[in-house]
Amino acid sequence: MSPDEMTHNDSRVLRAELLSFDADPGEADTPAEGSVCHLADGALWIENGRIRAVEDYATLAPQLPEGIDIIDHRGKLIVPGFIDSHVHYVQLEIMASYGRQLLDWLGDYTFPEECRFAAQEHAELLSEAFLNEMLRVGTTTAQVFCSSHPVSVDAFFSASHRRGLRMLAGKVLMDRHAPDALCDDTLGGIRDSERLIADWHGKGRLGFSLTPRFAPTSSRAQLDATGGLMRNDPSLWLQTHLAENTGEIDWVAELFPDSRDYLAVYEQSGLVGPRSTFAHGIHLDQAMRGRLAERGANLAFCPSSNLFLGSGLFDRLAAREMDLNISYASDVGGGTDLSGLATLKAAYQVGQLKGQPLTAWQGFFGLTLGNARALSLDGHIGRLAPGMEADLVVLDPAATPLLARRTARSRSLAETLFALMMLGDDRSVAETWAGGRLQHRRDNQSPMAG
Ligand code: GUN
Ligand code: ZN
Repeated sequence: MSPDEMTHNDSRVLRAELLSFDADPGEADTPAEGSVCHLADGALWIENGRIRAVEDYATLAPQLPEGIDIIDHRGKLIVPGFIDSHVHYVQLEIMASYGRQLLDWLGDYTFPEECRFAAQEHAELLSEAFLNEMLRVGTTTAQVFCSSHPVSVDAFFSASHRRGLRMLAGKVLMDRHAPDALCDDTLGGIRDSERLIADWHGKGRLGFSLTPRFAPTSSRAQLDATGGLMRNDPSLWLQTHLAENTGEIDWVAELFPDSRDYLAVYEQSGLVGPRSTFAHGIHLDQAMRGRLAERGANLAFCPSSNLFLGSGLFDRLAAREMDLNISYASDVGGGTDLSGLATLKAAYQVGQLKGQPLTAWQGFFGLTLGNARALSLDGHIGRLAPGMEADLVVLDPAATPLLARRTARSRSLAETLFALMMLGDDRSVAETWAGGRLQHRRDNQSPMAG
């Protein structure tokens, strides 16, 4: 069956090993009691785009209607669809641009690239290409930066809506320190956002995220007006960048001399709330982490980007110590990989350099329920449980000869998950389902040779 042949109101069962989290597993090698839901031979019954039942196969089988389609994925591992809390779809084609740190990278590569999204045709083409890549790596939901052109947002939401995906996205707001072709008229950018909110926020599975790029490219007037939109409608999300790079931080101090620190720039405009995601937050002190935590905001940890742009090593445990929510993100085009598995690999490597290696339990929790909670989407996605939307990934622990060799020697699920984190990529994703629809199937099945 091809993805096109499947409609969302079909009823079917996927039989496989199932893994989902009901709570944060904690930092220990053994997950906290009651945090993991694992069925070695499980059955996931999906119907009308949602999960109808999750049980041991032997328990569910006698209750199933006669003739129901049962897809046999034994040998594979199904987990909830991965979530990416911070990514720029308009930067897909400038991934892997050499030799710059943040501010020069923005000026030399990023801003020129984003100018191309004034053209509807280009925005439509790249929206489709980006979604194809996301689904190929098992990511079913993301919080996405478009460009400052409204047409880039229309294109992205249209493409996501057609596929029935749960996506958050927003129009970049910038009214200074960027090429004219990208700069808003201060209030014009706000009016554009209002129009996009009216057209897209709450339509199907879509949500609008207010998107002031970062403090240096918005005037105080634009930040204040963004805060006004947030106050008027608490169902909106907000995404921006914070304390990623030391040069950036010095510039913010110059531009906002009346703010006591970088975070205060956003606080003063009312931008810090439970639906706010601040990408990076590498260079913060404990007091700033505490201020973010008090408001229920989250920091998007973007490890492959932080390494690629040389921004610094995120202190995950310092954030956890303050009960600050952390989400996991690719930050492409700063990031080097869209794959959530690759994000976890980089997070583990950053963690090793900080003396705080990431367990596989914490990593897989982070990509699924952890990110869903951080984005206030856990009422819809992030778990394999009855009533949740049927967004899931079918992982193949034997996807490549090397992975097959490594996982054949696993003595525990934790070892297999860790091998997937270190060795996995798009080849490890056998299928991706979203809204109950098969959205991606890897072309060639497991090359188990040798
Ligand atoms: N800070 C402001 N804009 C950007 C961006 O596009 N990428 C990253 N990594 N940081 C930013
Ligand atoms: Zn970013």
